[in-house]
Amino acid sequence: MHTPNESAALLDGIRVFIEPAHVRSDPDSCLNYGRDWTRLYTPNPLAVVLPGTVEQVQQLVRYANEHRLALVPSGGRTGLSGAAVACRGELVVSLERMSRILDFDPTDRSVTCQAGVVTEAVQNFARDHGLYYPVDFASRGSSQIGGNIATNAGGIKVIRYGLTRDWVTGLKVVTGCGDLLDLNRGLIKNASGYDLRHLFIGSEGTLGIIVEATLKLTRPLREPSVMVLGVPDLDSVMSLYHILRNKLELSAFEFFSERALRHVLKKGLHRPFDTETPYYVLVEFENPEQLHTDTALALFEHCAEQGWLADGVISQSESQVKELWRLREDISESIAEYQPYKNDVSVRISRVPDFLAEADTLLTQEYPDFEVLWYGHIGDGNLHINILKPVGMNPTAFAQKCGAVSEHLFAILQRHGGSISAEHGVGLTKKPYLHYTRDETEVNYLRAIKQVFDPNRIMNPGKIFD
Ligand code: MLT
Ligand code: ZN
Repeated sequence: MHTPNESAALLDGIRVFIEPAHVRSDPDSCLNYGRDWTRLYTPNPLAVVLPGTVEQVQQLVRYANEHRLALVPSGGRTGLSGAAVACRGELVVSLERMSRILDFDPTDRSVTCQAGVVTEAVQNFARDHGLYYPVDFASRGSSQIGGNIATNAGGIKVIRYGLTRDWVTGLKVVTGCGDLLDLNRGLIKNASGYDLRHLFIGSEGTLGIIVEATLKLTRPLREPSVMVLGVPDLDSVMSLYHILRNKLELSAFEFFSERALRHVLKKGLHRPFDTETPYYVLVEFENPEQLHTDTALALFEHCAEQGWLADGVISQSESQVKELWRLREDISESIAEYQPYKNDVSVRISRVPDFLAEADTLLTQEYPDFEVLWYGHIGDGNLHINILKPVGMNPTAFAQKCGAVSEHLFAILQRHGGSISAEHGVGLTKKPYLHYTRDETEVNYLRAIKQVFDPNRIMNPGKIFD
């Protein structure tokens, strides 16, 4: 921490190479830019800096090295693990002014953009050019490409299109030393040694700052249809997964519980059908000119006969596709007021049934008085288990109780070879549990890599590991 005079002098030094209006230390800016969607930590940054060029980012990183100033790279701050939180006097580096699309190549089917471009802007740009950027999630309207890359964002279409990592063909990064690296330059094939691009994807701002990215695009989905199915139990969810995946071209296979659904219904959405079931599956599949509707209906009949579903609905229009998606996509926002303790775990799909059964038993035992909500991208083996804070319960006591249960949950997860974070990242919230997924030897290699790119430990210190 610095004295007020030292802080003022440090910021004046930055104002020499970044326009003074873009070096902010007012309380509102510090509050807004110092936090993400976790709301668990009290923001306390030194200031917020908004560079407008790659050169300014480089100057800033070099200045930070000189003065041993900790930097927290910041995108749309929609993260759920505290990776973009600045609560220890760090300097927040917001990329939001660097929000231009720089290049589009129809032959390569690729777009190059600055890190601060909002996800939805890339999706819209692709659509306007007859193409598709398939990485998609509820925070598409505020999350930024740089943040998506720094967390290797997943979302709702991973079953068909993979993660952010699969769409990044080029990256420009400013390392923790202040060097500018131009990684892979949009190449599809490049066997010239270590691919540093992939180190930066998912590095949560701990190795450097992503300033530009080249992203692959693809052809749009052809007239997707959506089915929501009411399911009696978790085993049936998996039976549906096996059969539907084999017979339809799935672009999503999501699930949520009746308890989770009730929260979105409270916000004004309508039940998809009258029958209440403990679980629901949302399936999206390509259905050009309704070619696969008969197959989908025949599958529905078959699954109903097997007892794997009790009711269901299939979209009849594009607007109904959107309405049905909201039942799943709006869950996170609808429960935000309960300050949920979030788990974002994954196992191989073949391990999902066993893991689910054990986790369900544990959570029922450990949280008899808490509301536990299940939802997530079950087709990717990714489950979001949210524990809602009882009204009136002290947030610290709640976090302690949930943290203690996490140890048991993650021990089960470890036995199944799973990960403590499938897509939200480690940040601050999952740091104490990293060892359930990465052993000490592996973490030592991670530390050694950080040392190379960030020898003075100025890049997002204290995130992922200490
Ligand atoms: C989701 O799948 O809805 C997001 O990852 C957010 C969340 O888990 O709450
Ligand atoms: Zn998710």
